[in-house]
Amino acid sequence: MSSTRDPHNSSDTSPQRKSHHLDFAKSAQTSEASLNELFDYEPMLSGFPTDDFCFAPLTLGKKTLKAPLWISSMTGGTSAAGPINKNLAKAAGEFGLGLGLGSCRPLLQGDEYFDDFNLRPLIGDGVLFANFGVAQLEQELLKDQAKHLLEVCKRLEVDGLFIHVNPLQEWFQDEGDRWFRSPQEIIKEFTEITAIAMPQLILGIKEVGQGMGAKSLRALLDLPITVIEFAAFGGTNFSLLETLRDKKTNNSNDLNKPNELCYVGHTALEMVRIVNNFIDDKSVKTGDKLFIVSGGIRSFLQGYYLTETLKAPACYGMAKPFLEASQGSYEELAQFVQKELDSLKMAHTFLRPRPLKGE
Ligand SMILES: Cc1cc2nc3c(=O)[nH]c(=O)nc-3n(C[C@H](O)[C@H](O)[C@H](O)COP(=O)(O)O)c2cc1C
Repeated sequence: MSSTRDPHNSSDTSPQRKSHHLDFAKSAQTSEASLNELFDYEPMLSGFPTDDFCFAPLTLGKKTLKAPLWISSMTGGTSAAGPINKNLAKAAGEFGLGLGLGSCRPLLQGDEYFDDFNLRPLIGDGVLFANFGVAQLEQELLKDQAKHLLEVCKRLEVDGLFIHVNPLQEWFQDEGDRWFRSPQEIIKEFTEITAIAMPQLILGIKEVGQGMGAKSLRALLDLPITVIEFAAFGGTNFSLLETLRDKKTNNSNDLNKPNELCYVGHTALEMVRIVNNFIDDKSVKTGDKLFIVSGGIRSFLQGYYLTETLKAPACYGMAKPFLEASQGSYEELAQFVQKELDSLKMAHTFLRPRPLKGE
């Protein structure tokens, strides 16, 4: 599977292999219905990807992602978070992926969890983003203390800051936050302060598993921010998660269906279509924005399809798959990333995404 094998020294012509072919041929049958119809497969045009294979560079400020893969914002502020974050940061550094920290809100209260978030020494020169909720932005802006958020960014030596906009998740929590201006107003005010106080900080906006619709995406495109992470519907869903958490903490045996609000939102494919429509219409300029297609992305092939179909610079992001892969040893995580990237290189070499229906 790996591109590192010596092409002139393939020794696997053993009788055992031939005998396996006879044994397994009966089971190895496909049906037309199992065909993946999203791609044209073009084996005539390229040789195998070599170790020199380079993905098209994606730049963020003065840095470049070595692969179009992003580790979506996850955890921090709990004892289990430290080892997970450290594994993820090491892998992001080694493979040149981007990494979003989980919400850095605990650092506004004190330094108890600083080490869990302090990943710059492990990620080296890699791309690292801090994370706050739009609720923290509004609270600090109201106190005229937006600098508190920027101080955390400085201490963590991050390249950028994600602001998550997650009204449904907050609503489902007993202790959830509220904001009373629109996030576009809150974020605009914050960008004006950042442009003066910390102009090199790259700003990104994301949801947390619900995605967002055309009018909100349009509002994001009008803001002076650089990164838009979809965090779309179809994968980890924090509305549902908070519902489950509520049941557990209140020891509830409530077997009612989760609130229907858990199931609203937009898939990554739908969001790709919306952005493409803007681009085709020339009604909105995407400028130098980078899109992170995320939310329910569970394979390199899905990520490849969506990022190649989006008509703007994009990488794909995953949270849950990285969470699972990072809970064991670092070697296991590195193997997971290596396999993902090797498979992605094969896809780039031999597959051409077919245009979206209707485009
Ligand atoms: C354990 C866990 C913790 C998360 N914490 C945050 C967070 O603190 N801030 C944030 O913006 N998103 C957070 N997310 C949301 C992810 O960044 C991502 O948007 C969402 O999980 C959808 O991606 P997925 O389907 O690949 O898991 C978290 C996700 C997971 C799984």
